Formats: sequence, C-alpha cells, structure tokens
Amino acid sequence: MKTNTFVHKYLKGLINKDDEVVDMTVGNGNDTYLLCKLAKRVIGFDINKEAINNTKERIKEFDNYELILDNHINVDKYIKNKMKLFIFNLGYLPHSKNPTTTKGTETLVAFKKAYDLLMNNGYIIITFYVGHKGGFDEYYLLNKYFNENNILVIEKYQAKSSILEPITFIIKKV
Ligand SMILES: C[S@@+](CC[C@H](N)C(=O)[O-])C[C@H]1O[C@@H](n2cnc3c(N)ncnc32)[C@H](O)[C@@H]1O
Repeated sequence: MKTNTFVHKYLKGLINKDDEVVDMTVGNGNDTYLLCKLAKRVIGFDINKEAINNTKERIKEFDNYELILDNHINVDKYIKNKMKLFIFNLGYLPHSKNPTTTKGTETLVAFKKAYDLLMNNGYIIITFYVGHKGGFDEYYLLNKYFNENNILVIEKYQAKSSILEPITFIIKKV
C-alpha cells in the first residue's frame, strides 16, 4: 500500500465532523482535501505561495478552512485553542519553481508546538522522506526526540518495497 493510501485510510478512523485539525504542510492540498471532507474546520500552513494557491484550487468546493502562508514554526501565533489532529507531510512541493524543503531543526520546533496545542487523545501524523539525506537526518532527529521524551507512537508504516520508502508515524497524546 502506498504511504498516502495508508495515511488516508487511517485518518478516516481518527477524526469526524466535530473536530478541528491542522495540516502543517498543505503542498498540493491532497491531505487538506480529505481533512476538509472529514473534519469540522481545517487550518493549513505552507511556506510556499504556489502550494497555498494549488491547495485553494484543490479544496474550492469546501468553506470550512483557513490557509496560512507562513512557516509552520509560527503555528502558535495563529492557533490558541486545542486541536484534535496535526498532519505533517514533510519534504518539498514537487514541480515547484521555488521549492522549500522542510528542515529537521524547524520541524522539531513545529512538532513541539503542535504537541502543546494538541488535545488529550489527539493525534499527530508525520511522514518522513528518508530516501534523501536531508529527509533521513530529519527523521533521525525527530525519532530521537520521540524516544527521549516518551512520545507515544501507536503505529509506524513503511511500504515494504524499499527501505528508502517514506516512513509514517502515528502519534497519540494521552
Ligand atoms: C510533500 S509536500 C506536502 C504535500 C501535501 N500534504 C499534499 O497532500 O499535497 C511538503 C510541503 O511542505 C512545505 N514546507 C516546507 N517547509 C515548510 C515550513 N517550514 N513551513 C510550512 N510548510 C513548509 C513545502 O512548501 C511543501 O509544499
């Protein structure tokens, strides 16, 4: 099963129309689209204007969202109440003229802020693209943080075909 298929299947069991959720990297809006369908309200971040525009177009049939053009390390400037779920799909926007790749040190800051803003029994879904050096370093840094800080990982998924496939963690705050 492809990573996206796994994540989307899993998401369907985690959230419903009472929930407020956050997409920390909207990209082309594929995850945001499903979140708009499943949740009450969706807040989406991306650092790349092209990604925000692509996502706006992708989710134009919905009205339950807010898109923010900013680095997701600033998430706490925009969100004050507790959220049910955050999703990080790391890496860069494919085919973009000016792609910006997520950086481990920033992702760690954003993860910690998201965890603080997460309600009890809420979830963080995070996918690492370990097939390139930057993505592997990002995975290593965050995985170390999870292990050293009792972050509860309830599921890990990597498509079987290759160790270079993306790795997804499902994290639960208890
Ligand atoms: C793999 S894409 C996301 C794909 C998207 N979830 C989808 O379903 O189409 C990663 C995105 O992260 C964005 N990004 C990179 N660094 C960021 C940062 N510091 N803050 C917010 N977004 C960032 C990139 O611009 C890119 O659009």
